[in-house]
Amino acid sequence: VIQRLAIVGLGLMGGSLGLAARERANVQRVVGCDPDEGARAAALTRGCVDEAGDDLAAAVADADVVALCAPVSELPVVLAELAGLAPQATVTDIGSTKTGVVAAVPAGLRARFIGGHPICGMETRGAQNARAELFDGATWYLTPLADTEPARLRDLHRLVAALGATPVAIDAGVHDRLLAVTSHLPHALANLLVVQAGEARIDGHDPLTAIGGSFRDMTRVAGANPRIWVDIFLDNREALASVLREHQRALGEVLTALEAGDAGYLARWIGQASGHHRRALAAQFDQRPEELYRVQVHVPDRPGVFAGITQALGAARINIEDFELHHFTPERGGTIELLVAGSEEAQRAVELLDAQGYGALAAPVLADDA
Ligand SMILES: NC(=O)c1ccc[n+]([C@@H]2O[C@H](COP(=O)([O-])OP(=O)(O)OC[C@H]3O[C@@H](n4cnc5c(N)ncnc54)[C@H](O)[C@@H]3O)[C@@H](O)[C@H]2O)c1
Repeated sequence: VIQRLAIVGLGLMGGSLGLAARERANVQRVVGCDPDEGARAAALTRGCVDEAGDDLAAAVADADVVALCAPVSELPVVLAELAGLAPQATVTDIGSTKTGVVAAVPAGLRARFIGGHPICGMETRGAQNARAELFDGATWYLTPLADTEPARLRDLHRLVAALGATPVAIDAGVHDRLLAVTSHLPHALANLLVVQAGEARIDGHDPLTAIGGSFRDMTRVAGANPRIWVDIFLDNREALASVLREHQRALGEVLTALEAGDAGYLARWIGQASGHHRRALAAQFDQRPEELYRVQVHVPDRPGVFAGITQALGAARINIEDFELHHFTPERGGTIELLVAGSEEAQRAVELLDAQGYGALAAPVLADDA
């Protein structure tokens, strides 16, 4: 059992870790450390830590586990300082890239070090936005070193599971190449899309005032916390550059097909995407992707609307697999998208919601020809 946890870096992630450790994993004492006074105050106010200070040595003095939750670029310095402190503690981090961090672990710490990265988070930052549920159901990669003591890996594995996440051990280099494709490339592309549209004027029109669902879905993470993302891009620049070059090559092919008017290529390309999209959905949901339906509901801006909808579906035993809210303004209301499994359930949901006076429509998530 882990009694005492020290958290170095009391931001969004460190704060959430503190909340989850206290509320879910029964960690008895959580001590935080952050050079920023505002961050310490926020973490204390939110109840993320029992105690907070700016002195690393004091914070980690009698910790069983030290979790480094500062930006990745800070970690080498913190690790070097830590080597002489907390001689018994298991040390881990939650940085989004792993190769650089692992390489910076001093010799005296290697037997006690396990890298980590929870695949969850938000576009915001700071402990004021921390949530204990953040790690629920998330994959939490653990990157032990060759010389990490197995008992420490086992204990950290248990802690991660108690926080609500699923621990998965992986090599640090493999982690970084994987994340370059699944996270760093999409973040880079989201920034590119927003900047391209934001800088363009098409016959005087600003494209950003006319965006639709596809643009919105593709750019959710655009502009996310630059303090974190500059580090991530730079720290993983080799893997990201290689993925971007591959992207450039594929873009070149699409461009060639476009210029040649090659409809066959474009159709095969979309078909290939549709197959992979189906596999991605299958990995995300318990249901077969063919059975997933998107129910779109137009709702007014009125108190109780959400409760009304979820209660009506709940009473009819229609399970909501996923839920999104779009375009909410006081004047026009907004659209709620519900993901429901089964065509019959989707149809019943539409009828129920229609009966309540909402305009609802259902459509399969996968296109017909998928
Ligand atoms: N936000 C996400 O979605 C996400 C997801 C997974 C992993 N991560 C990783 O979590 C870490 C923290 O990210 P965040 O989103 O909580 O950022 P954040 O900006 O909310 O918090 C970072 C905190 O670290 C503090 N800090 C800076 N230097 C420090 C130092 N030397 N010692 C102690 N504290 C220091 C800052 O004052 C700040 O309070 C990063 O390494 C990031 O890669 C973030």
